[in-house]
Amino acid sequence: MGVGVMRMSWSTTTLLLCSQSHNPTTILFRRPPSFSFRDTTRRRQRSIHLRARRAAATEAQLDDDDHSGIMWKQLQKGIAEFYDESSTLWENIWGDHMHHGFYDPDSSVSLSDHRPAQIRMIDEALRFASLPEEPKNVVDVGCGIGGSSRYIASKYGAKCKGITLSPVQAQRANALASSQSLSPQVSFQVADALDQPFADGKFDLVWSMESGEHMPDKSKFVSELARVAAPGGTIIIVTWCHRDLKPGEESLQPWEQTLLNKICDAFYLPAWCSTADYVRLMESLSLQDIKAADWSQYVAPFWPAVIRSALTWKGLTSLLRAGRKTIRGALAMPLMIEGYKKDLIKFAIITCRKPHQ
Ligand SMILES: C[S@@+](CC[C@H](N)C(=O)[O-])C[C@H]1O[C@@H](n2cnc3c(N)ncnc32)[C@H](O)[C@@H]1O
Repeated sequence: MGVGVMRMSWSTTTLLLCSQSHNPTTILFRRPPSFSFRDTTRRRQRSIHLRARRAAATEAQLDDDDHSGIMWKQLQKGIAEFYDESSTLWENIWGDHMHHGFYDPDSSVSLSDHRPAQIRMIDEALRFASLPEEPKNVVDVGCGIGGSSRYIASKYGAKCKGITLSPVQAQRANALASSQSLSPQVSFQVADALDQPFADGKFDLVWSMESGEHMPDKSKFVSELARVAAPGGTIIIVTWCHRDLKPGEESLQPWEQTLLNKICDAFYLPAWCSTADYVRLMESLSLQDIKAADWSQYVAPFWPAVIRSALTWKGLTSLLRAGRKTIRGALAMPLMIEGYKKDLIKFAIITCRKPHQ
């Protein structure tokens, strides 16, 4: 399935979560090896070999860690610049929600239907997760310009903290919160979802709407969401996944990986994983009430609508003004439609609860 052995060293066995080959070291589990040697001499000799091999493995590990650290820094920079550059254009045409809308399957829609559909996406996700009670403290991980936070804060009277990699988004999100008299109840900052600036157990709702696809280490991502969740708190992840692998399949087909790689390049995404991978990660952290669903059929009208809006005079001139990264993203939009049509891309929701202990 999607979990394969990446590297075996003497000190660790490292398992790789994602099934795409160019994944920059997405680590799922490390476990200590067990050795049993019969006599002391052999043990001593082996111990020398072990030390040598361990030293070599550590060196290789450091090289790999350095390499993945550099790749992560580059990806982070790309994501931040992509959203710094494109968020104003998106807001001018689509408003403050930077996520898919939720539509009735096979419905025909017009431009005025999209904002209600984006709000419906938030409501459907909250309903799917069956919150035990109204949330009081919410973290919005990968908050964009804060549309979800402001909506959830207004709906429940909750306090919300949003994080994004984009300084332009954080600034705009705070300005919008202030203009809607929602600050300081709702506030935003630049921070990394993989290293969140929050204490353990702080939030009764941990919300990630279409940011998971940007995370190069899904294991770290889910464990950070679990860390900041309060006991009994709910975690909601709505994200792009690739299809679940079939029994006996070890990776996606080459054409599928090629298509995803093109999308990754355009939207600053690392390797993708499947919904089943997320479920396994949550299980490995002993999270409870894990639920997942494929909502691809409910989002089908979205990308055709984004393309139609980009092809208007306003869309085209704004695109040209926005810059190279945004244009590259726009050119990749038909690939998303192709991925959905070929059942490769899945629009997934995965929710769970942190145990009370
Ligand atoms: C498609 S936008 C979704 C925005 C928002 N959730 C919404 O629905 O309007 C993806 C967001 O994820 C954020 N993001 C990506 N990687 C991140 C990371 N490692 N840490 C924090 N935010 C991240 C981006 O900065 C961007 O705000």
